[in-house]
Amino acid sequence: MPHDHAHHTQPTYLAEMLDLDAEIFAAALQGVYADIEGLADGPVRSIADLGAGTGTGTFGLLGHFGDAHAVAVDASDEMLAHLRRRAEQMGLSGRVTTLSADLDASVPDVDAVDLAWASASLHHLADPDRTLAALVPTIRPGGLLTVMELDGFPRFVPDGTPGGAAEARAHQLLAADRAHDMPAMGSDWGARLTTAGLIVEQHRAVTVDLTSPVPEAARRLAVLGLARIRGAVVDRLAAGELRAYDALLDGGADDVRHRPDLRVSAERQLWIARRPA
Ligand SMILES: C[S@@+](CC[C@H](N)C(=O)[O-])C[C@H]1O[C@@H](n2cnc3c(N)ncnc32)[C@H](O)[C@@H]1O
Repeated sequence: MPHDHAHHTQPTYLAEMLDLDAEIFAAALQGVYADIEGLADGPVRSIADLGAGTGTGTFGLLGHFGDAHAVAVDASDEMLAHLRRRAEQMGLSGRVTTLSADLDASVPDVDAVDLAWASASLHHLADPDRTLAALVPTIRPGGLLTVMELDGFPRFVPDGTPGGAAEARAHQLLAADRAHDMPAMGSDWGARLTTAGLIVEQHRAVTVDLTSPVPEAARRLAVLGLARIRGAVVDRLAAGELRAYDALLDGGADDVRHRPDLRVSAERQLWIARRPA
């Protein structure tokens, strides 16, 4: 998913994209929750979702761990307000507390939890290693920290079809930007977790590969994502590439809103680490 630099003022389209992303990853995340349950040394009753956004992890984990309470931490009050609204709609308000905190400045002063969860949030931090070290005491001895990080935004247009090469080129340009201004993105989080004093128990890829018929959420995410990425790379696409790219959004035959060959192909990396008992 695209990332905003001014993370304290996330516009609403980002909240919508996070919720769409949650729908697309929902089934794959069930497998992640099962992995956590398998590694936990006891019942998971307390959870901290670090950089919770709209609450994908918070709500997924509360669904899986039926006795748990979660603290959702984020620097964006808009995200936390969105998360609280969702909690109310889902009847989960009694099991979620929100905490507005900038993890660059300090880590939240919460009782040590059974499970800390950080999905697509750590790479935003100015000094992730410093924050990770500071976060260790917020996990109880023997408790777990789960980190999910993304390599890039999902692909929607198959290679070798109209617009596929243009989408790939836009992703390539975006990845080069990220390497420059978000160097922690795509880094070896396993090594960082070990340096922080945690024991990495599991590392695997979490993949989503949806083919026709894709859910409506995928089409909506494709529209929002392609439009957003266009803004970041438009000056650097060659004229032909730009024409092919714009045809994905112009209402014609190749538009992602209705083309039959739309797919979703996305990959995240998952690490589950334990605080030594
Ligand atoms: C890409 S979103 C991921 C949200 C959610 N974890 C998910 O997987 O859908 C990153 C989140 O991290 C939050 N964030 C970024 N920098 C932060 C910081 N320094 N302290 C706390 N939260 C931060 C942003 O506000 C945003 O909600």
